[in-house]
Amino acid sequence: MNLDLQSLFDAARAARALAYAPYSHFTVGAALRDAEGTVHAGCNVENAAYPVGTCAEAGAIAAMVAGGGRTIREMLVMGAGPGLVTPCGACRQRIREFAAPETVIHVADGDGVLARFTLGALLPESFGPENLVRHA
Ligand code: THU
Repeated sequence: MNLDLQSLFDAARAARALAYAPYSHFTVGAALRDAEGTVHAGCNVENAAYPVGTCAEAGAIAAMVAGGGRTIREMLVMGAGPGLVTPCGACRQRIREFAAPETVIHVADGDGVLARFTLGALLPESFGPENLVRHA
């Protein structure tokens, strides 16, 4: 694992360890690197009113935006295997707001990286900010 990927892995693991998942017991951590090279992380935060819970990816994106970042260069999502914890559909769209079709999303469990996908592969033919440029 190269150093950049290791830093995303470590940040996602640390965030996942703090996840609040008392209902599903399915903890998830996510980490992303922004255009400045800063790493931002998040974890899932569940809620007694189930639909109000938020995904790890949403937390990482919120941390990036609050830190002044506006571009996701690379992302890693970590959750329990054996199935791949790929971002849910809503989070694919959240990532789309700040990433390009070529942006790589790594999927990991606690032991290592299992797979990598481009955002374009996860969310083809997507709708994004460019679609609204002429309608602002
Ligand atoms: N979850 C995430 O945080 N990210 C994903 O990519 C998949 C699912 C969370 C939501 C919920 O708290 C728990 O995992 C079970 O769905």
